[in-house]
Amino acid sequence: MATLRFLTAGESHGPQLTAILTGLPAGLRVGAEAVNADLARRQRGYGRGGRMAIEQDQVTLTAGVRGGQTLGSPLALVIPNRDWENWRESMRIEAFAPGTEPAEVRLPRPGHADLAGMAKFGHRDLRNVLERASARETAARVAVGAVCRGFLEELGIAVGGYVRSLGGVVGPEQPEASPAVWAAARESDVACPDEETSLLMREAIDQAQVAGDTLGGWLVVEARGVPPGLGSCGDWTERLDGQLAQALMSIPAIKAVEIGLGSRVADLPGSRVHDPILPDDADPHWPLSRPSNHAGGLEGGMSNGEPIVAAAAMKPIPTLRHPLPSVDLDTGEAATAHVERSDVCALPAALVVAEAMLCFVLARALREKFGGDSMAEVRANLEAYRQGLNAPWGPPKEGARS
Ligand SMILES: Cc1cc2nc3c(=O)[nH]c(=O)nc-3n(C[C@H](O)[C@H](O)[C@H](O)COP(=O)(O)O)c2cc1C
Repeated sequence: MATLRFLTAGESHGPQLTAILTGLPAGLRVGAEAVNADLARRQRGYGRGGRMAIEQDQVTLTAGVRGGQTLGSPLALVIPNRDWENWRESMRIEAFAPGTEPAEVRLPRPGHADLAGMAKFGHRDLRNVLERASARETAARVAVGAVCRGFLEELGIAVGGYVRSLGGVVGPEQPEASPAVWAAARESDVACPDEETSLLMREAIDQAQVAGDTLGGWLVVEARGVPPGLGSCGDWTERLDGQLAQALMSIPAIKAVEIGLGSRVADLPGSRVHDPILPDDADPHWPLSRPSNHAGGLEGGMSNGEPIVAAAAMKPIPTLRHPLPSVDLDTGEAATAHVERSDVCALPAALVVAEAMLCFVLARALREKFGGDSMAEVRANLEAYRQGLNAPWGPPKEGARS
């Protein structure tokens, strides 16, 4: 069945991360190299903590691929945690021998999963919560996203993005869904396509670092070449805008998602929000154009043939070197929060995760619409759909046939 799904497992300082991705057709070219390239992008970035120097993620594909191509069976992707060596004892899988239990984390960090996770799972040691809540899990998502990116690319769809603002430093407006902008962002260690703004963003991170503080910002993810009609207006769960918002919001520390004009629509009249539809015979199969894309490529819960444009706001990292007030769970007394090695700003990394989530959501929508058990079948189904797009305005109305 053409339902694309994935699961991840793994703790931040456990032996490895594991992802299982099911629902890809056979015959898709997949290799560790492309996955590793995205994993490396997730690890780079100005403002990351010391762990990035240790990790250098490398994926191993252990199922679903033979001779560099998918078999149509579930894919398994494994990313070892190199830091595990330093945590073997305190993160051991087997029971702790009496008297060898590691020190417990008992100072919940504001803005983290610590307190709510303790209440939910009944853990005394907050490490049992924070190990999975850690954004280390997003490395597995990036691996899955890289495979989905390969699937999209084979169908003529490109995904990219950039950082729009960081810690209040806002870059200039960028042209929409531009591969040149995406490429410039990849060259910047703050993922900002504008050099001058990149400098200011780095300065902001330096200042936060000195102050023991952290920063967030806005990232933008985009897709070009998406056919109209992905998703559906037929059922709330099938709306592509809703699915994309959920996928982006599921990234740790993402607190707002916007599509197209986003929250600006609330303050503008309709005449300045909605994108006109104009006749244009440049493409015989889609003889119209849209002079603007305020909708971000999504109308009625479906892709409308324009680039998909979404933005997400990341909050500042919640682990602070100068920690906020908290409560010592052992004594009930006022204390300061637990401090763990941590990033000052992880926005460039979050961008790579957001691209991965966009890749997955689009790949899933394509699998749902075009089915197919082999890449050849998927390509043929998509091509037949593109060729038939003019059908609604092509043939004469029923009864008018001669
Ligand atoms: C790529 C990435 C890296 C992150 N790195 C850290 C970090 O080093 N330290 C930290 O406290 N939070 C980090 N976070 C954020 C936390 O994981 C997140 O705030 C926490 O799990 C609570 O979830 P919530 O913010 O969605 O409520 C990172 C998030 C992302 C996306």
